Amino acid sequence: MTETSFTPRVFSGIQPSGNLHLGNYLGAVKRFVDWQAKDVETVYCMVDLHAITVWQNPADLTKSTRELCAGFIASGIDPEQSILINQSQVPEHAQLAWIFNCVARMGWMQRMTQWKDKAGKNTQNASLGLFAYPALMAADILVYHATHVPVGEDQKQHLELTRDIAAKFNNDYGVDFFPMTEPVIEGAATRVMSLRDGTKKMSKSDPSDASRINMTDDADAIAKKIRKAKTDPEALPSEAEGLKERPEARNLIEIFAALNEQSVDQVLADVGGKQFSEFKPMMAELAVEKLAPIGMEMSRLMNHQDEIDKILTRGAERARAITAPILKQTYEIVGMVPPVSL
Ligand code: TYM
Repeated sequence: MTETSFTPRVFSGIQPSGNLHLGNYLGAVKRFVDWQAKDVETVYCMVDLHAITVWQNPADLTKSTRELCAGFIASGIDPEQSILINQSQVPEHAQLAWIFNCVARMGWMQRMTQWKDKAGKNTQNASLGLFAYPALMAADILVYHATHVPVGEDQKQHLELTRDIAAKFNNDYGVDFFPMTEPVIEGAATRVMSLRDGTKKMSKSDPSDASRINMTDDADAIAKKIRKAKTDPEALPSEAEGLKERPEARNLIEIFAALNEQSVDQVLADVGGKQFSEFKPMMAELAVEKLAPIGMEMSRLMNHQDEIDKILTRGAERARAITAPILKQTYEIVGMVPPVSL
């Protein structure tokens, strides 16, 4: 199959489980906004079905889903230009996921590092949904015949599996139906690390709130977290080579570069030789300038939940115009007796 035989379409998703943080923003949402500016259809999704693979308090899930929608919009996703959806409102995602559960192999799932990390030692007690998580993710993407998926570094393995599932389906049924989706892992901050430990990924599940900048943090909280971020005693280097073995310095420089839309080399050309005592206030100022307005807009939008719900209803209608025919064709390929009423 040639990778160009499908019309370009971008899909990506974020779990509404807890706070949207700087890692999600720089690794994913900011990239989504870039793609929206190109001449290509973009679909962005709150993946609530993925979120419940680990326990979610129902009221918190509802709030987090709306808050994530507010986060997308406040960051620059325009619900007219992009299709903005909540996964459970587009039932074809879960329907295609079942087909893919029957295509994917247990061994493939067992190799997923996210499964190993999240299930921990007690795999017998993990949900079946957590194990099958990547098959639903493949369905999210392929039910749109999406060709490009912008994500952070940590999703690379899941996207390779998506290609494996597409290839096995095409091969098993002798068709050329699902595209070989391209992961797009771009920018200066594809793996934002914890502000407290430069060897650990910034994550919503870190018990320390100081380890991450939440997109809802106000200016004071953002500045304080940057002031307190872990560093080392050396001055900043003038070249990227000098960041090796300095995970905290590297992380702050990458965040700065991504926020300022520069490369790491450009940032180091400006700040090389400075001490952190001089760099951190510059960085706090930049972060507050770029992030605080997003947080403020999120809280404003959260006061208009009916508007958010309307946007999601409209998004689901637009999405289903794409997903229903693709699911219907999939059922036909698999041999389900037509007409399938979808
Ligand atoms: P999730 O919700 O964990 O993260 C959402 C996006 O944010 C990126 N990300 C980061 N990027 C840089 N540094 C970090 N510290 C960081 N933390 C998170 C993630 O790489 C991701 O792009 N399985 C997905 C959700 C999903 C999905 C999909 C994504 C479901 N279906 C289909 C793409 C396409 C996840 O758990 O992302």
